[in-house]
This record gives sequence, structure tokens and C-alpha cells, in this order.
Amino acid sequence: VGDLTAADLKGKKVFVRADLNVPLDDSQNITDDTRIRAAIPTIKHLIQNGAKVILSSHLGRPKGVTPKFSLAPLVPRLSELLGIQVVKADDCIGPEVEKLVAALPEGGVLLLENVRFYKEEEKNEPEFAKKLASLADLFVNDAFGTAHRAHASTEGVTKFLKPSVAGFLLQKELDYLVGAVSSPKRPFAAIVGGSKVSSKIGVIESLLEKCDILLLGGGMIFTFYKAQGLSVGSSLVEEDKLELATSLLAKAKAKGVSLLLPTDVVIADKFAPDANSKIVPASAIPDGWMGLDIGPDSVKTFNEALDTTQTIIWNGPMGVFEFEKFAVGTEAIAKKLAELSGKGVTTIIGGGDSVAAVEKVGVADVMSHISTGGGASLELLEGKELPGVIALDEAVPVAV
Ligand code: 3PG
Repeated sequence: VGDLTAADLKGKKVFVRADLNVPLDDSQNITDDTRIRAAIPTIKHLIQNGAKVILSSHLGRPKGVTPKFSLAPLVPRLSELLGIQVVKADDCIGPEVEKLVAALPEGGVLLLENVRFYKEEEKNEPEFAKKLASLADLFVNDAFGTAHRAHASTEGVTKFLKPSVAGFLLQKELDYLVGAVSSPKRPFAAIVGGSKVSSKIGVIESLLEKCDILLLGGGMIFTFYKAQGLSVGSSLVEEDKLELATSLLAKAKAKGVSLLLPTDVVIADKFAPDANSKIVPASAIPDGWMGLDIGPDSVKTFNEALDTTQTIIWNGPMGVFEFEKFAVGTEAIAKKLAELSGKGVTTIIGGGDSVAAVEKVGVADVMSHISTGGGASLELLEGKELPGVIALDEAVPVAV
């Protein structure tokens, strides 16, 4: 992927696609600014090198122009983090935007309005991509969280604007989620959780090719237990994935991967935060009870396995961690990864719920890498090529 540091930036108009899709509350306050903070190094580099930054993002999934999906609430935080006043445009293409671009000083930042206010964005219409491209001299894609979408501002624009290079965040995500996972310091452990096997098949299959140890947790384990002939009470089971679970276990064995399933579970009499709960061996889940977390013996066994590793990737919680009572297993894993990170183990948190867990425990800062992508990091871990990245490969990675 093209190198941003190699580009001659002074006085150049740079179209930066970032993923500033942050959660907002009902009063339009940002409730988690991680993605804004993650976009800052690239923008700062551009500012410091005298570029004129045209910043673009989507927010949410608006159908047409929808005020509650405006990027306006992001301006104060962006300005604060960059140390300059960011100018906001009311559109992302058109004469008004062109005027604002023309008035941009070197080192200035213009934030365009939500690019998804145009349906042409998601349809990846060339005419729209061309209009976006016409604003600038150079394209920097730093929107890792949206790199799995072939949209006008992520993929289409590269056809009209060259060079098209990766920003620092996109590059870092690739370094960890592709680089560190493909050529890991060994032993390499993957921890995969989440409620359904069906949503993690691709990730498990791909990681089975690369890891030495695979730890499974979350709701998906009950499909594996049932496939092994255990009673699972009223736990979540995907009946149509029993054969698949059996074949994944066999595949791990054939590949010499040490696959560990939890040996004990925390069970509940209903799916609720105030459910009655108890800890039982995985082989002794009574009828009418459901497993909602991994138990303390499993945590101990998992921790011992993790102690032997040099690289760990984690995707998906160990239990229903939104309910305090069933968050213990997930939090224990987060703490273990933090401890090992401090000892030099490479720890990679691959998007979505596991990121939320690490943040909840307050150990996000000590991890080697926390992905800013949900769907994008899953697809990368499945070994898929991301359209927003592939488009950059085809572009010329040199100075304008
Ligand atoms: C995300 O939140 O995962 C990205 O911003 C992509 O958003 P999308 O799923 O609406 O395309």
C-alpha cells in the first residue's frame, strides 16, 4: 500500500477519507471518540507538512439528507485534538464546497458533510466519485472501519485521483491484522468468542491455518458441546451448525492446533441481568438452564495457555458481558491480555465487542493494537481482500 510519508504534501489539496462514524447520544454528544482520535495522526502529519486537508466520512446509515446524521457535532472535538479550528462544509460536493476548498490555507482542515447523504456513495457511482476526486490532488484512505465497503469515497475515488495512498491508521491496522497474524511471533494464540458459530466460521477457519492455540468462548461453545454429545440445557445452539462444529474440531486436531473449549460454565435460569446463576462443569448443564459465561476453571486453563504465547489475537466476548453477572470471564481475559502485553507479548484486539470489553476494564491503552473496524477487521481476519485497500494497491505509491 502506498506510502504517505513519501508524498510531497506542501500546498497540495488532500482528500482524506476517514471513518469518523462515532456513536452520538440523543443530544448529539459523542459517546466514544476512539475513531476520531485514531484519525488524528494522519491529519496532523498532513497539516504539519503544509497540505490542505479535505476530510470526508460517513456517519450512520442515513437515507438521504438527515440532520441527525450530520458531521457537525464532530467539529469541536476534531478542532480540539488538532489544535486548529476545523471548517465545516454543509455538503460534500458542489460549488459551495469548491469555494471553501479554494479558501483553505496550507495546514487547514475542511470537514465535508456526511458523504452518505448521497445515495451515489454506497452505489459507488463513478460520476459522484469523480466529483469528490475533483476537489483534490491526492487521496489518502485512512478509513479502515469502512475499507470492506466498495463505496465512492473509499474505492471509486481512487479511479480518478492518483496517487491514492494509505493513511497511518489504515497501515497500522494492516500491519497488525495481516502482518502480525500471518507471520506471528510464536506460539500464537487466537481467542474467538461471540454468540454464534455461524458469524465466526470464516475467522475460525482462517485462524486455524495460522495459530498454535485456539481458545473458544461465548455462546458458540454450546454448539460445540452439543456436537460432542453433551447436554446444553436451554443454551443457545445452532442446530444446523453441529456438523460444522465437529469438522472444525477435527480440522484443529489434524493441523496440530491445540483447541481448548471451556471446561466449566456460568449458567443462568433466564436470559436476564438478575438471573439466578451457578457454576457447573461443561458436562453438567441441567435442563432449563443456559450458559452465559465461561467459569473460573476455564479462565485458569485459558490463562495458563496464554502464558506460553508471544502473540495473541482476540475477537468476540467470552460471555454475555453486557450483564455484570456474566462479564467475569470476558473481563478476566481482558486483564490477562493486559498483563501479557506488559511482558512484551503482542496483543491484538480485533474489533467490535472485544474492544468494548477491553475498554470497560480500562486496559485499552496497554494493548499492542485495538482495531477500529468491526466488519472490516472480521473480513480481514477471514482472509478476505478489502476493496478500499485493494484500490490503493493499484494506485501509484509515490509523490504527487
Ligand atoms: C462501522 O461502524 O463498522 C463502519 O463505520 C462501517 O459502517 P457500515 O457498517 O454502516 O458500513
